[in-house]
Amino acid sequence: MTPDTYVVDQSHRISVGGIRLDALAEKYGTPLYVLDQTTIVNRIRQYQEALNELTPAGQAFYAGKAFICQAMAGLLEHQGMGLDVVSGGELYTALTAGFDPSRIMFHGNVKTREEIAYALNAKVGHMVCDSLEELNRIEQEASRLDCQAPILLRITPGIEAHTHEFIRTGQFDSKFGFALTQGIADQAVLRALELPHIALKGFHAHIGSQIFDEDPFIRNAEILLNYSIQWYQEQGWWPEVLNIGGGFGVRYQSQDVAPRLAAVVGAIRSMVDRLTPNGLVPPRIFMEPGRSIIAEAGVTVYQVMVKKEVPGGKWYVAVDGGMGDNIRPALYQARYQAAIDGKADEPGTETVTVAGRYCETGDVLIKDIALPPVSIDDLLVVFDTGAYNYAMASNYNRVPRPAVVLVADGRDELWVARETYQDMVHGDKPWTGMR
Ligand SMILES: Cc1ncc(COP(=O)(O)O)c(C=O)c1O
Repeated sequence: MTPDTYVVDQSHRISVGGIRLDALAEKYGTPLYVLDQTTIVNRIRQYQEALNELTPAGQAFYAGKAFICQAMAGLLEHQGMGLDVVSGGELYTALTAGFDPSRIMFHGNVKTREEIAYALNAKVGHMVCDSLEELNRIEQEASRLDCQAPILLRITPGIEAHTHEFIRTGQFDSKFGFALTQGIADQAVLRALELPHIALKGFHAHIGSQIFDEDPFIRNAEILLNYSIQWYQEQGWWPEVLNIGGGFGVRYQSQDVAPRLAAVVGAIRSMVDRLTPNGLVPPRIFMEPGRSIIAEAGVTVYQVMVKKEVPGGKWYVAVDGGMGDNIRPALYQARYQAAIDGKADEPGTETVTVAGRYCETGDVLIKDIALPPVSIDDLLVVFDTGAYNYAMASNYNRVPRPAVVLVADGRDELWVARETYQDMVHGDKPWTGMR
């Protein structure tokens, strides 16, 4: 719900990472994304400690799609994390930040030839293959570059996780991967095993995001393991790696209960020990957490610009950001909690809808939230915005994207500069008069 270092002082002012948010707003302007290093590192360590309990030790790959920039890649490298990237742009960000390519997993249901060649040239640790077309494309590029492509096949295991349909990916009719039905995955395995420049290292399955139940994660690992056993029995092929994806839910609301990581990994450990055929090394278990590493580390600070009552008695509070910096409420009705800096921890006495500044009626950040009396120029702080906010930000209405600032131990560091009006026209070319 809040960063681990979140503190409200006697004047109801909020600090994160030992710095008051009003001081950050003064220094960097608003809207402002603030990330707490302590929270990020604590979450990374939870994954590393849990996966170190496995034999052989597992590996966590942070899902860069949740939030990535060069400084984040540097922090992840320093922490010994793996990194899941889904595009040439994410790969470039990681490599230019000095990230070790052997701990990079290259994902995505569409990879262009250029991206495949880029990843192979960079010698990424694994590529996750999503379709037969892609398998052939990787084979051709690997052949051209005279190398072996280490791949995992993405499997859709037929698990319907309880989450919003836009972020559900484990069901058979998902656009991702090879369904474990009608022989679809079998065909991909056979093809991968016969292609000379493909080294099939294992399977991957990601069942969705923001999942609270623990069972689907365990069931996912079990399905991948049993499928591997089938291949061992039929072809003598055994995986080095089983990647069970990400998707651990995060507490956006006080009633949310996050799944217990250690319990899930513990159940997977006993299952792997029990099911691995005698004489074989158990596969390494990989996980790809995004949201559960970065969501709670982030808050967004906005300035209240407008407060108005509309016919029917509803109150709007409009801030200087909105769907351009946080599309999730408009995209899939995500709910956020917020506080007013200087009135934090005071009882919510008025119900308002927090609207953004963008030219869409649907640009609503929080519908019907109880807040203490809100005044113009107040700073509104929205919690849990570390994941899929900056990463999904746009320049709709040509509004420059906010800055990202990291805080730790009373210090702040600019991670991504606020965009400027010059940035807005950077790629524009003048009208030439051509008809
Ligand atoms: C393949 C894959 N792995 C990992 C993730 C990260 O999921 P989350 O941020 O919910 O942990 C995603 C998110 O969509 C994904 O598609």
